Amino acid sequence: STVPAFDPANVQGDILVGLPKKAQQYIIFQIDDNVTAFRKALNNLIPLITTTTQVQQDRTKIANNKKAAQEQGKTPKLIKLSGVNVAFSQAGLTKMGITDDLLDTAFTAGQLKDSKNLGDPGKDVDGNFVPDWLPAFLQGNIHGVILISGDCAATITETRTTIEHIFSVGTPNATLHEVTTLIGKVRPGPEDGHEHFGFLDGISQPAIEGIDTNPNPGQETVRQGIILVGRDGDGIANRPSWAIDGSFLALRYLFQLVPEFNNFLKGNALTGNGLTPDQGSELLGARLMGRWKSGAPIDLAPTQDDPALGQDASRNNNFRYDFTDDQTTTIRCPFAAHTRKTNPRADLEDIGFSTETRRIIRRGVQFGDEVTPQEAASGKTALDRGLIFAAYQSTIPNGFQFIQISWANATTFPPQKPFTPGFDPIIGQTNDDSVRTLAGTDPNNQTAELSLPTDWVLPKGGEYFFSPSIPALRTKFAL
Ligand code: HEM
Repeated sequence: STVPAFDPANVQGDILVGLPKKAQQYIIFQIDDNVTAFRKALNNLIPLITTTTQVQQDRTKIANNKKAAQEQGKTPKLIKLSGVNVAFSQAGLTKMGITDDLLDTAFTAGQLKDSKNLGDPGKDVDGNFVPDWLPAFLQGNIHGVILISGDCAATITETRTTIEHIFSVGTPNATLHEVTTLIGKVRPGPEDGHEHFGFLDGISQPAIEGIDTNPNPGQETVRQGIILVGRDGDGIANRPSWAIDGSFLALRYLFQLVPEFNNFLKGNALTGNGLTPDQGSELLGARLMGRWKSGAPIDLAPTQDDPALGQDASRNNNFRYDFTDDQTTTIRCPFAAHTRKTNPRADLEDIGFSTETRRIIRRGVQFGDEVTPQEAASGKTALDRGLIFAAYQSTIPNGFQFIQISWANATTFPPQKPFTPGFDPIIGQTNDDSVRTLAGTDPNNQTAELSLPTDWVLPKGGEYFFSPSIPALRTKFAL
């Protein structure tokens, strides 16, 4: 069969470019029993769905607005913008009577069944593993998710009201109902773009062939099929033809224990080389993450932060862990640092493996409020906060699932190192409460193991979804 020419207007906008957002809702829903009515109503949602072409235009608008304000010496006002995307779980496809097999084992089984493999903490109940998730994610009734993004919470509420009308929510004719809503918002002021531990996020993404035609130095370009089903580079054959230009979305509701993380860094500050205690804990944090809070990669700035480097897109991704001794020592970067575990670059490429098929596009958003003075003083989390992790790929088993299980949780990864790297200190995990360790954090005593007494990232739920193309929504999903 012939593959239709690529058209960005067919692809939902969050996948390849990302819905611009200061706030975001993930409305996780169950389809009600009148499935035909739901699929008819879906026709009215489709015009609201933001395509890749529209997101590109929105981003140009934002950039022009910023430039105009700067030329007048003003701070740019946010433009009112709202974006909508939709994705379905396997249970949702089944509910709608769509029986084609998308040939993705993780998607088909659903994330609840995968939670044990992912290493999520939990326990056996009557012979079944039950992760320590919130009840909403344990019922097995999640059929889909509607993403609404916007410049502020009020814009999102407006869009949400429109969408609720489409599905008659709250009336006897409702065709869907909310299971739960995850409410994301970026952090305030200078923390905008930083995750809750304080580190700038969203720096390293793969560039997509034909879309990101002007990649930054060091940014890997991947074939479209690494992210989009049915395109060049999608290694899974014989998928239904309507699946082309869709993408699998791995959604994870990850709680972060920020005061506990900060206390650990304080209590285990690196010493020597004239480091003050504060500098020693900052350096340890940077070595656990692989980047300084500013975003500067420690492979390029191993001893002290370089905020200008962190900000500079032409330099902040231009490294491979291939400086002299990088492959055999952790003088610059621990083998198990989060960014190195999740994208090992030269660790694999220089021993003959490509990392292309493991790349994912991350579109997460923070949730929850800033740490309160009481939480900081007590060192104990009292309010919920963390990351709504959302990653797109054309295959979950080769993407998110592989990175979590075979890289982050695998103590022997990256391979062929002179000592065992250990767990990814941010997201590496086991089902039980055994103490995680990693090595290489102290550049002056590399084989020393550091024990991580608690997990600071706690998975509390999630699901795998398929984000169909706009034509598929029209012809296969809507009636
Ligand atoms: C990069 C934080 C969860 C995969 C990063 C960066 C930060 C970060 C600060 C560096 C910024 C960048 O390079 O873009 C976190 C936090 C998490 C979390 C706080 C949990 C609360 C995850 C999960 C995965 C993941 C669950 C996948 C299983 C990645 C990847 C990169 C990355 C692939 C890019 C690495 C590179 O290309 O150099 N993360 N992350 N992260 N993270 Fe995470």
